[in-house]
Amino acid sequence: MGPRELGLPMRVAAPEPGELPTAVTIWEVGPRDGLQNEAEVVPLDVKLEFLHRLADAGLGVLEATSFVRPEWVPQLADAAELLAELHRVPGVRYPVLVPNPRGLDRALEAGVRDIAIFASATETFAQRNLNRSLDEQFTMFEPVVRRAVGEGLAVRGYVSMCFGDPWEGAVPVEQVVSVGRRLLAMGCEQLSLGDTIGVATPGHVESLLRAFVAAGVGVDRLAVHFHDTYGQALANTHAALRLGVSTVDSSAGGLGGCPYAESATGNLATEDLVWMLDGLGVKHGVDLGKLVATSAWMAQRLGRPSPSRVVQALAS
Ligand code: HMG
Ligand code: MG
Repeated sequence: MGPRELGLPMRVAAPEPGELPTAVTIWEVGPRDGLQNEAEVVPLDVKLEFLHRLADAGLGVLEATSFVRPEWVPQLADAAELLAELHRVPGVRYPVLVPNPRGLDRALEAGVRDIAIFASATETFAQRNLNRSLDEQFTMFEPVVRRAVGEGLAVRGYVSMCFGDPWEGAVPVEQVVSVGRRLLAMGCEQLSLGDTIGVATPGHVESLLRAFVAAGVGVDRLAVHFHDTYGQALANTHAALRLGVSTVDSSAGGLGGCPYAESATGNLATEDLVWMLDGLGVKHGVDLGKLVATSAWMAQRLGRPSPSRVVQALAS
């Protein structure tokens, strides 16, 4: 069964390959997107060592945890304790997810300087992930962004279900652009376009990025966030790089998923991304050996092998 049978659009834009960026910022989401989806809560000391090892491997942005309602994501209920014990490496950013004013209060108490709000491009996922309608999510985020920007925090805006939704099927590009533009107008400095259930293909990625550019949003304000359910995450990333995107989300060892999205599997593995960037001559600042060792160590803690092909090839 392919994207067409799933009712998903297969737009193929005319190829106009641009220069690849000379350097890419890897936005490492393993400690948050990865660990939020584990059946068992990962012990605090393992989370801390994971974060310390990722910083030591050269990753400059580590999405550390979430200040969401603990009943909704018990896996990350220890966010305050985690940040209290975390040894922050100078120069490394440690963003956290914040959905609402209560989450922002908790994040500020923990000394956070970098947050991400997370919106849905679809009505159903807004209800399931945020307990809000599509419109109500903006009402919830607005005071968060206003206060965070006022206090000098960096604010990223995620848009989930950009390429397909398990309940609604195809998601119109215009709907995604509309949600993204509302987040930017609110004060977000960057959008991360999420393929929450991993159904995107490269032509669709091109179409969405071109639609943002046509709506006046430069690629310098866009990041991509691919889950690898159908094995397309790396190809999709390459398509985004060719259009000038230079911030890519990935998770060490390919951990990840979303407890509120059926069929969401792991994110693009950071090791697979690094391998491709090395081959393309694009700078990223990561020590692949240290990263693979970290993911192999984490796979042992979690009791199952990493799905990353590069980890599998290099860890032995
Ligand atoms: P709600 O149940 O509607 O909460 O949840 P509420 O606003 O009605 O508040 C009820 C009670 O919860 C109140 O307590 C609040 O204080 C408390 P009471 O007054 O009754 O004693 N509460 C909180 N406590 C601690 N921290 C908070 C908080 N908020 C409320 N932040 C809410 C609404 C948005 C909070 C909930 O739906 C939620 O936490 N959702 C988060 C779900 C989530 O984390 N999903 C995974 C992340 S998204 C993702 O993975 C996708 C992404 O990777 C991109 C992609 O792949 O596409 C980012
Ligand atoms: Mg995700």
